[in-house]
Amino acid sequence: MHVLSYIPTGLLTLFFAWYLLPLTSASSYFVINTPANGIQWSNNAVNPITWEKGLLDGVTTVDVELARLSTDGLIFVAKDFSTPLSTGALNLFLQDVPTGDDYYLLFLNSTHGVMYGASQRFAISNSGNGTAPTPAAGAPTVTVSGGPNPTVGFATTFPPSANGVSALRTVEDARMQLLSMAGVVAVCALGGALTVL
Ligand SMILES: *[C@@H]1O[C@H](CO)[C@@H](O)[C@H](O)[C@H]1NC(C)=O
Ligand SMILES: *[C@@H]1O[C@H](CO)[C@@H](O)[C@H](O)[C@H]1NC(C)=O
Repeated sequence: MHVLSYIPTGLLTLFFAWYLLPLTSASSYFVINTPANGIQWSNNAVNPITWEKGLLDGVTTVDVELARLSTDGLIFVAKDFSTPLSTGALNLFLQDVPTGDDYYLLFLNSTHGVMYGASQRFAISNSGNGTAPTPAAGAPTVTVSGGPNPTVGFATTFPPSANGVSALRTVEDARMQLLSMAGVVAVCALGGALTVL
């Protein structure tokens, strides 16, 4: 069972309040750009999520959940979504999701309950009001149906094998790039030193 399912809403509120304080550690940089305050998602439509994160923070897969302040229970959106780059996107097709203006999107590891990021508060309606951005091109679309139901698992679980490999490879590539950049900087510095001599 899900750890967060047992946490009462009041505690989650406190947690959000804590979470929305500025983060000090660069390694835990994880910002959800959309949805945000003033955005209204719509049922029967594709609604985009976009985020930015620290490239070498070691977080290469995430679980995504929807939470509300006024209601207990979480909607399990996607599990093991690969997010190897410093930006990421995922589209949600909503069906019969309860409407409300107190939704938050959570990025976490649901296995041990570690939270990576939470969105600002946003709304879900049946018709939308034109504030939701257009779906993210090239990002997968996950269908989410209905409200919180503890007996229903994640709407979509992404395959770990395909995920893990590409995630690792990309982080490896990023490391190599950083290393070769460091090399270039070192050579330049050396060049500068030689010029001075
Ligand atoms: C759309 O809905 C959101 C959330 O309810 C609200 O903050 C925003 O002001 C609305 N925008 C318009 C143009 O009505
Ligand atoms: C969560 O952590 C566990 C244990 O460290 C790991 O096996 C799992 O892949 C992680 N899940 C995600 C979505 O990162």
